[in-house]
Amino acid sequence: MTAEIIDGKAFALSLRERVGEVAAAFEAKAGRKAGLAVVLVGEDPASQVYVRSKGKATLAANMLSFEHKLPVDTAEADLLALVEKLNNDPSVDGILVQLPLPSHVDEQTVIAAISPDKDVDGFHVTNAGRLAVGQEGFVPCTPLGCIMLLTDRLGDLSGLDAVVVGRSNIVGKPMAQLLVQQNATVTLAHSRTKNLPEVVRRADIVIAAVGRAEMVKADWLKPGATVIDVGINRLPPADGAEKGKLVGDVAFAEASEVAGAITPVPGGVGPMTIAVLLRNTLVAAHRNEGIAMPDGAL
Ligand code: GUN
Repeated sequence: MTAEIIDGKAFALSLRERVGEVAAAFEAKAGRKAGLAVVLVGEDPASQVYVRSKGKATLAANMLSFEHKLPVDTAEADLLALVEKLNNDPSVDGILVQLPLPSHVDEQTVIAAISPDKDVDGFHVTNAGRLAVGQEGFVPCTPLGCIMLLTDRLGDLSGLDAVVVGRSNIVGKPMAQLLVQQNATVTLAHSRTKNLPEVVRRADIVIAAVGRAEMVKADWLKPGATVIDVGINRLPPADGAEKGKLVGDVAFAEASEVAGAITPVPGGVGPMTIAVLLRNTLVAAHRNEGIAMPDGAL
């Protein structure tokens, strides 16, 4: 058997197009564009790449992008003052502070300072709580993107066995909450789980979000399972190569022989994150202006 490849890149492109259309309609109704503020502290190369692509994608989706680049030695108090300014700026609907932050800044303190109604990353404890009790809020972009890919492929998830491997606040925990909301039967597994291969083998849906290159093997999978690979890991460079290959948390080639459908790395979950960030920002803008989102658009 050879798995169907779930094309997250194509899905994300189509979501970004729909966001762009709804954003144009929002501008016509509200008399202003939706706006996303992104704050980058320091010069981490990977973060610089992310921030640049977020900015471009925001503009391409008919929204405003406000980029704030601060030096690596910015005091926590100055960062908190900027967040407060953005909280009070009516042209800013969403605020994203790029992580990781330099070690002298406490990430939780900064996240807690973001208004929960502008927290389009869904990292604030208020939004984590809202998700846990089923209230309207913001859901972290990566797990929400995974749910979109899953429901697009499988439709109703009711009664399906889902195993999430990895318990981070950003992916694993919200992923488990979302799957429960979709009526799946959910196991949240992690590095201390006993007999992990056996646990994963029960799953109709596997979400791999542990950050360990190619950990999930073909013989861990139930034949026909839908596999969503959130991992992005760089292997050591092969002889003579400058950079190692990017791989997920699933051993893709062998897993494709057993799974029913699988996301590739790159080109699977990755592109969904920015598309969902734009979607969350547009939702925030509609809420801020008291304008209803068009039904079923996003
Ligand atoms: N760093 C890497 N991914 C993300 C993300 O989705 N949000 C934020 N704030 N920082 C990140």
